[in-house]
Amino acid sequence: MIRLGVLASGGGTNLQALLDACAARRVDAEVALVLSNLPGAGALERASRAGVAGDCLPSKGVTDRAAYDAAVVERLATARVDLVCLAGYMRLVTPGFLRAFGPTAASRGCPRVVNIHPALLPAFPGLHGPRQALAAGVKVAGCTVHFVDEGTDTGPVIAQAAVPVLDGDTEDSLAARILEQEHRLYPQAIQWIAEGRLSLHGRTVRLDRPGAPAERLRSPSIEVA
Ligand code: GRF
Repeated sequence: MIRLGVLASGGGTNLQALLDACAARRVDAEVALVLSNLPGAGALERASRAGVAGDCLPSKGVTDRAAYDAAVVERLATARVDLVCLAGYMRLVTPGFLRAFGPTAASRGCPRVVNIHPALLPAFPGLHGPRQALAAGVKVAGCTVHFVDEGTDTGPVIAQAAVPVLDGDTEDSLAARILEQEHRLYPQAIQWIAEGRLSLHGRTVRLDRPGAPAERLRSPSIEVA
C-alpha cells in the first residue's frame, strides 16, 4: 500500500475522488497527508471529514519558492509519502521539490509527482483549460494525468480521457463534463502506479499487464467517454 501526499488549493473534488477510491479499495493506497497553500481550502475540510491529516502552509507573500517547497517536502517526508498527487494545486513546484520526489528503482524511472489537468495536453496547458478549449473551437476536450516536470503541464502523459464539446456549452458545462472524467481517471492512474505497472521510456509512459512486466503494452489509456 503506497502513501499519497495530496497538494490542493481549491475545493478538492479530485482529492475526494482519491479518498473515496482508497476507502473502497479501488486504489491500493492511503492518503497520508493533505497540504494546501490556501487557508480555508475546501480540500482541507474534506481531509478532516475523512479523518486524514491536513495542514496549510500559506503561500501568500512568499518570495523564496525554494524555501517554501523545502518546507512542503519536509512535511511530506515526515508523513512518509511515496507519491505526491497535485490536485488543483495552483503553484508550480520547484526543481528541488522534483528532486526530492525523483525516480527510484521502485518507481521504474517514473517521477513521483503526478498531476491532473483539465485539457488534452499538450493542448491548453496552464490556467482555464475548458475556457481555452472553447475559445479554440475544438470539438473534443478532456483531461490528462501526467508526471510532473519543471514546465507547466509539460510532463509525460500517463492517461487521457476525452469528452465531446457540445453546441451551447459554456465554460461551466464543459468543465463539469471534464471533471466527471477526472474523478474516474485520476484514481485509475494512481492504482496503476500503486501496482508498479508504469514505466517511463523517454517521454512515453508504458502500462504493463497486471503481473506480467515483461509483456509491455503501449498504454491503452486513451478513452473516449
Ligand atoms: C481540476 O479541474 C483539475 O484538473 C485542475 O484544477 C481543478 C481542481 O478541482 N488542476 P478540485 O479542487 O479537485 O475540485
